[in-house]
Amino acid sequence: MHNKQKLQKHSWLDHAVVYQIYPRSFKDTTHNGVGDLQGIIERLDYLNDGQGGGLGVDAIWLSPIFCSPMIDFGYDISDHRNIDPLFGNLEIFDELVAQVHKRGMKLMLDFVPNHTSSSHPWFVESKSSVNNPKRDWYVWHDPGPDGLAPNNWLSVFGGSAWTFDEQTGQYYMHTFLSAQPDLNWHNPEVKKEMFGIMRWWLERGVDGFRVDAVPHLFEDKKLRDNPPNPNYVPGQDDEYEAQYHVYTNNLPETLALIKEMGALLDEHNAAMINEVRLGQRGDHLRDFYEACGDNRTCQPFNFRLLNAPWQAQTYREIIDKLEKLLWPDCSANWVFGNHDMSRLAIRLDRPRARLVAVLQMTLRGTPFIYYGEELGMIDGGLPPKRDDQRGKKTPSRDPARTPMQWDASKNAGFSDTEPWLPVGIDYKEYNTASELSDPDSFLNLYKVLIGLRKTSPVLLDGKYESLETGSDQVLGFTRNLDKKKILVLLNFSKQPQVLSLPQLGRPGLLCATEPSLRPEQEIDCQKLSLNPLESLVLDLRL
Ligand code: NOJ
Repeated sequence: MHNKQKLQKHSWLDHAVVYQIYPRSFKDTTHNGVGDLQGIIERLDYLNDGQGGGLGVDAIWLSPIFCSPMIDFGYDISDHRNIDPLFGNLEIFDELVAQVHKRGMKLMLDFVPNHTSSSHPWFVESKSSVNNPKRDWYVWHDPGPDGLAPNNWLSVFGGSAWTFDEQTGQYYMHTFLSAQPDLNWHNPEVKKEMFGIMRWWLERGVDGFRVDAVPHLFEDKKLRDNPPNPNYVPGQDDEYEAQYHVYTNNLPETLALIKEMGALLDEHNAAMINEVRLGQRGDHLRDFYEACGDNRTCQPFNFRLLNAPWQAQTYREIIDKLEKLLWPDCSANWVFGNHDMSRLAIRLDRPRARLVAVLQMTLRGTPFIYYGEELGMIDGGLPPKRDDQRGKKTPSRDPARTPMQWDASKNAGFSDTEPWLPVGIDYKEYNTASELSDPDSFLNLYKVLIGLRKTSPVLLDGKYESLETGSDQVLGFTRNLDKKKILVLLNFSKQPQVLSLPQLGRPGLLCATEPSLRPEQEIDCQKLSLNPLESLVLDLRL
């Protein structure tokens, strides 16, 4: 067990606000309807101009930009050390790194260690014969006695995790699509090569990685069947939930590997954020923190509030539980959206998404913003035959990947030609240009919150303490550092709520979800009325 009191080494990630860009959808400069690296360079000032202007984020995470047949839009890599021509080339990439750094930001790349594309030269070699030296770089096995797949393992994207190769008479394993064969991390050559790739990008100036699909890195060497999940409801639950993935998820080797990766990143003052999921039978989050020991450069993503039921009490329980699980000096993070999820402003609705913005920017832990979240962007429609299905489970993830909404012009200023996905239906109202001039817009709310967070040691490092608000509709907490306290109140209900917290006096207003409804500078906690779905950030001035 980790020593709870032990101080961990700080990482730049602890105090950062991170912005995820889905490169296909940010800004097209090559007139093909798909975003590219040059487009990102051109729009960096929007994120942070280095002079105090822009949204104010501190780091950018790019979803994969490497060479790929794009069957899973870049999560199927065919050359790890090059940029897909769709996005640019290494020269433009170097310029991007320089421009990001010039503005004082950090750049994180996606690192996809679990699998490659089936058109990666390693797999092409591996597939060529059972005796090929690269055969063991992937997970191959003879058919079972019935001639079918070697065992019952399932693919996250549906069906068996095994695909038969006619030519060599064996099956290969793939956690995701059959076009994404799993690498065999038990093979030391794979590890050496993949660590070499990380080092190569770090030496090119990258400041860290978001590591894809971490729980799936290792599989049981004996290929034992996964046991059935007794709680699985066929037809209701995702097919993947039919089993407990004890022999394919979070094997002990995974944590040891993450620790080694963390140490490599630490050598470069780089950070790592690992894509992990809540275990089916228990919680692996703390294990991932402990795996990294004193090294704070490495965190697991925390998705716990992503699909939480909309109740102040439930949110409170989840946050309190996480705070208890982690030790005080341990970095946390909160995620409310990404390229795999329906967008926040549609999963909830826009007023609730504003409340979440306040919550995310005032909780203890690194906030991750998915591009367009700061505009209140919602899911879009799909053109016929152009979704991300290609053999995957429904529903499609593409609605959350529509073009960034820059302005009210044709194609939302994303491209001068038809974009790869249609722009969001209400882009004329929800875009950076129109929102900048509206003090009550999403964008201005995010700007104010990010500004507040960055300049407040209390919000960055203060202790979290849950508060009894006297209303089960209002979530309340304080953040405390030295003698300073910030109070956050969030009304989860569509009805006004009146609180009586006389002990809190008359705190100063730092931020409100609807600034125009809150012209006053001070709030009287003796009798405090919160508007429907309103949130307030208050300076307790004790
Ligand atoms: C998780 C990524 O977020 C998702 O987009 C991708 O399809 C899978 N991993 C496979 O790489």
